[in-house]
Amino acid sequence: ASSSQPYRTGYHFQPPKNWMNDPNGPMIYKGIYHLFYQYNPKGAVWGNIVWAHSTSTDLINWTPHNHAIYPSQPSDHYGCWSGSATMLPGGKPVILYTGIIDPKPINTQVQNLVVPKNLSDPYLREWIKYPNNPLMSPTVENQINGSSFRDPTTAWLGHDNIWRVIIGSKIHRKGLAILYRSRDFKKWTKAKHPLHSAKNTGMWECPDFFPVSTTGQNGIDTSMVGPNVKHVVKASLDDTKHEYYTIGTYNITLDRYFADKGSVESDLGLRYDYGKFYASKTFFDHEKNRRILWGWINESSSVADDVKKGWSGIQAIPRKIWLDKSGKQLLQWPVVEIEKLRGKQIQLPSKILKGGSVIEVSGVTAVQADIEISFEISDFKKAEILDPSWTNPQLLCSQKSASVKSALGPFGLLTLASKDLQEYTAVFFRIFKGQQGKYVVLMCSDQSRSSLNDDNDKTTYGAFLNVNPLHEKLSLRSLVMESFGGDGKACITARVYPTLATGKDAHLYAFNYGTEKVKLSSLSAWSMKKAHIY
Ligand code: FRU
Repeated sequence: ASSSQPYRTGYHFQPPKNWMNDPNGPMIYKGIYHLFYQYNPKGAVWGNIVWAHSTSTDLINWTPHNHAIYPSQPSDHYGCWSGSATMLPGGKPVILYTGIIDPKPINTQVQNLVVPKNLSDPYLREWIKYPNNPLMSPTVENQINGSSFRDPTTAWLGHDNIWRVIIGSKIHRKGLAILYRSRDFKKWTKAKHPLHSAKNTGMWECPDFFPVSTTGQNGIDTSMVGPNVKHVVKASLDDTKHEYYTIGTYNITLDRYFADKGSVESDLGLRYDYGKFYASKTFFDHEKNRRILWGWINESSSVADDVKKGWSGIQAIPRKIWLDKSGKQLLQWPVVEIEKLRGKQIQLPSKILKGGSVIEVSGVTAVQADIEISFEISDFKKAEILDPSWTNPQLLCSQKSASVKSALGPFGLLTLASKDLQEYTAVFFRIFKGQQGKYVVLMCSDQSRSSLNDDNDKTTYGAFLNVNPLHEKLSLRSLVMESFGGDGKACITARVYPTLATGKDAHLYAFNYGTEKVKLSSLSAWSMKKAHIY
């Protein structure tokens, strides 16, 4: 960030200029992390899509390379859209991606294969297209709708030595993950049944399918099946630009996935992120035995402002992702490497925050900080009753914004705040009394006062947080743009564009606007150094 470019980020991945969307083909090869991404070399709006490419040894600092995949064959003449990398036996990476074979408005989609030119180059700088591309095409016989057939996943290998991959699609309003199989990764046959589908969800973009361990935080290889394994299907819904995931069982005999009961792709279902986070993708980091999630953060500014600033889109900080002990949701946490950027640390001793209090956390660079805060509540008597009709957390957060007092909450952080609080982004909790003596925790990210510039989308986001405040502290980690509640149980990402609270004029506060006291049990904040990203 500089005074002429206040909205560029200090340590999130972004190219020097132009449009970026989905993360593509993430992998680790010979100790080097690879990130490819959807990129427009010609401007700050979507179009002319190629795969740009950067590598890293720590997921934080990046080196750019030449574009890895760009139109050069009839099978991708009008664009090289999203796709994924797969490690073949012997650790040889290959990539499947979607090619566009005719111009708008049809945008017919096919799936293509590329392989590295030189496996001894750890940077995998050059890629060779398979001459017989495309490998999968929409035809009259297979009844695939050619304008809804894209974004191949990482493939997985069955015990029968047959590869499988899914492609996002839809039939009418039913979203689906079309399943293909292959013995040699070149000749692919469509299975009769999709791996999974869901009514009324529309087009599934960027599906993801991967196993999670039921016994700990370690990630596992994408082909892993067995007794201590559950599976996850994630779909990015084109209609709403929200992602949903379900946890379930992969039946290898039927070659189908069955979501656990109550696990659905809708607003009653689970999201990686309850803010702006889309077209995400995971990969297995076999060197550190973890599964890592990458996601694209779309801007909330106007197209005119994007064109003026010359760029659009950033990638979220990569997150480690694993199954919660309950088996009912995933947990996410920024990769530990981000902590290398932590500079000067500020700590506040534990203290009671009386109703209506605001305290400044000074001594950190508030525009670029990493903050960990936790709260404890001892007296729940006055907690507001949760009306059973309040089932939509985002709606509840926008109706009960940061300025609306209840007994227990709002309390949390005011980030990117101007001195006089004309501008701020409030990330906070509110506690309600629910059914059967249970307490319900709501986590909100309120952008409504984030900027005096009204050309931005300032939607408020919210999530219910599955923690029991009677027995557990309420923790919040904020990387300013990304907030993690309950040690990674709910994440909310938002882009904001303050006009006053920029550079040294940005402040950070802890607050409790509720009427009852809460205990701030700990607060640590670090000024964050800049990463090298190009
Ligand atoms: C998701 C998406 C994908 C497509 C790509 C095109 O954001 O629309 O479905 O492959 O972006 O850039």
